[in-house]
Amino acid sequence: RTLRIGLIPGDGIGKEVIPAGRRILEALPASLGLKFEFVNLSAGFETFEQTGTALPDKTVAILKLECDGALFGAVSSPTHPVKGYSSPIVALRKKLDLYANVRPVKTVLGAAKPIDMVIVRENTEDLYVKEERTYDTPEGKVAEAIKRISQRASSRIATIAGEIALRRQKIRAAGNPSIHKGPLVTITHKSNVLSQTDGLFRTTAREALADPRFSSVAVEEQIVDSMVYKLFRQPEAYDVIVAPNLYGDILSDGAAALVGSLGLVPSANVGEGLAIGEPCHGSAPDIMGQGIANPIATLRSAALMLEFLNEEEAAARIYAAVDANLSEGKLLSPDLGGTAKTEEVVADILGRL
Ligand code: NAI
Ligand code: MG
Repeated sequence: RTLRIGLIPGDGIGKEVIPAGRRILEALPASLGLKFEFVNLSAGFETFEQTGTALPDKTVAILKLECDGALFGAVSSPTHPVKGYSSPIVALRKKLDLYANVRPVKTVLGAAKPIDMVIVRENTEDLYVKEERTYDTPEGKVAEAIKRISQRASSRIATIAGEIALRRQKIRAAGNPSIHKGPLVTITHKSNVLSQTDGLFRTTAREALADPRFSSVAVEEQIVDSMVYKLFRQPEAYDVIVAPNLYGDILSDGAAALVGSLGLVPSANVGEGLAIGEPCHGSAPDIMGQGIANPIATLRSAALMLEFLNEEEAAARIYAAVDANLSEGKLLSPDLGGTAKTEEVVADILGRL
């Protein structure tokens, strides 16, 4: 099978870590029968400065028409508002209908407090439809925003959460050690207050997960505020968490803090027929150009992308090579307390692959 993969380094350390993502895909053993074709694509602030747009139409068209998957690095946002500039990753998610943002948060084996969860965030609606308005009243200005929740989006995000729970169970059943026994999906909401919007999310997610396909998946619910409390006290309790856009955004950054460096945490933006792997970190201007960015978030994002292209075996190889590097702990980048350069970490992990 030949997979066509778009490479979008973006800005800052995106340019230093995306090449590592390409190299790990190329280094997968031939016995897996996978071949890759890469297409270099541009997006980001530098692209904006050069061309007047942060997301060229060509990038969108090639991803849509030609690519099976892609790796997206990071983009810098100007600190002051710049006319005409808006975040290309947000636009990409919208234009390509990448409706699920998937973020696994996992410690390496043997960690004192093991964590192994995936946060599945709805990516297309909720407050992020950005329908806001401000108006004057005798008491001063009032601003309001629409929180839109649809049955369609809630159903498909719960369905993919159920599928991820089943896939994780399959991987455990294949003999991979885990802290979890059975598959579990936790539906997150605040329907005690927002009975219509979050209420619709909750009941729709429940219905989707009641499908006989998911009969082995346990389903529970948790109100988002108590979820934060439990996430920090007892993170090992969670397997797959599904949440509307805003709660998912906040929970997934919070959960990333549980495992140390941002340089470790991958994500994927998933739609029909396309998956884009993306490290969770930004362009890290404070360390760019020094060759010390941690490539692991990107390597794991490449593996996560492969999972959604149904190449689970290839993904498992990458995860295992990364975990071996981390558990040995000899060649670590500075964000993890080591002194290794990006290049040395990549070489070590490729060697283990
Ligand atoms: P950041 O994630 O770029 O950096 C936060 C801190 O983590 C920095 O100290 C950085 O050196 C460190 N760090 C991040 N990734 C690392 C890696 N792979 N290896 C080692 N250390 C790493 O977030 P920050 O500083 O808030 O934002 C910088 C720029 O990135 C801004 O312009 C921001 O808008 C943009 N950004 C873009 C994102 C994206 O493209 N999805 C996400 C977050 C921020
Ligand atoms: Mg975020």
